[in-house]
Amino acid sequence: MIAQVISSYLGALCGRIEIKTYKSTDSTNRLAKVAASLGVPEGYTVISNEQTCGYGRRGRAFFSPSGSGIYLSLVLRPRISPESSLLITTVAAVAVSGAIESVFGIKAEIKWVNDILVNGKKVAGILTEASFTEDGKSIDRAILGIGINLCPPEDGFPSEIQDIAGSILSSPDCSQKEHFIAELLKRFFGYYDALPDIAFFDEYKNRLAMLGKTVSVIKKDGASPAKAVGISNSFNLIVEYEDGRTEALSSGEVSTRLL
Ligand code: BTN
Repeated sequence: MIAQVISSYLGALCGRIEIKTYKSTDSTNRLAKVAASLGVPEGYTVISNEQTCGYGRRGRAFFSPSGSGIYLSLVLRPRISPESSLLITTVAAVAVSGAIESVFGIKAEIKWVNDILVNGKKVAGILTEASFTEDGKSIDRAILGIGINLCPPEDGFPSEIQDIAGSILSSPDCSQKEHFIAELLKRFFGYYDALPDIAFFDEYKNRLAMLGKTVSVIKKDGASPAKAVGISNSFNLIVEYEDGRTEALSSGEVSTRLL
């Protein structure tokens, strides 16, 4: 992967993004965190061809084989309140799904709150890790990590995820990788710069795979079926249980599975 090729597609955004590429690393989020703590400015971007210890939400491992995926972490210095930090993840979900459609002409959906689906399979995951100032009133920095299965992995997906994971493309042709990364970054910053304005809300909602469908609501004490009936403007998923009760789910506490 060539940083200059990505930059050549960035247009006006070029001056705000500094890209460091790696053949292999343990985790681009970890590298970006170290760089952020040393003071790199917003827009510093780490991209690797492979991760040996990539991780996702709830500490789960993120399968990151060499050659077929994009593992990218962006250092951000957001001027939004700590309560709004979920907006970074939701902006990224809209940016990734929009870039998939515009570069590859493939329909991409969002599985609340941070997964991107193509043909019902997860092709990308997003993890935002924010740290706050000592008084807790502001975000000091946020690392936005995005893992994307662009092409099918050479040896397939591991058995634990082979039913749920997929890749955007069905062939091993990764020639559009740099163009796609640039498109994703442009779309991300277009919405991010306007935060806390949520002009992207309708696009997020329209791309939600689960609205009107039955999902399994998974909490610490078990799972219950419910219908996903809406999304609030703070990105809580509104569900209706079989007994008619409705609940606004918070992504920090609950996960869902499409049934
Ligand atoms: C998830 O699906 O739970 C989120 C996955 C996020 C994975 C990306 S890959 C780039 C960055 N580096 C990491 O270690 N994780 C994120």
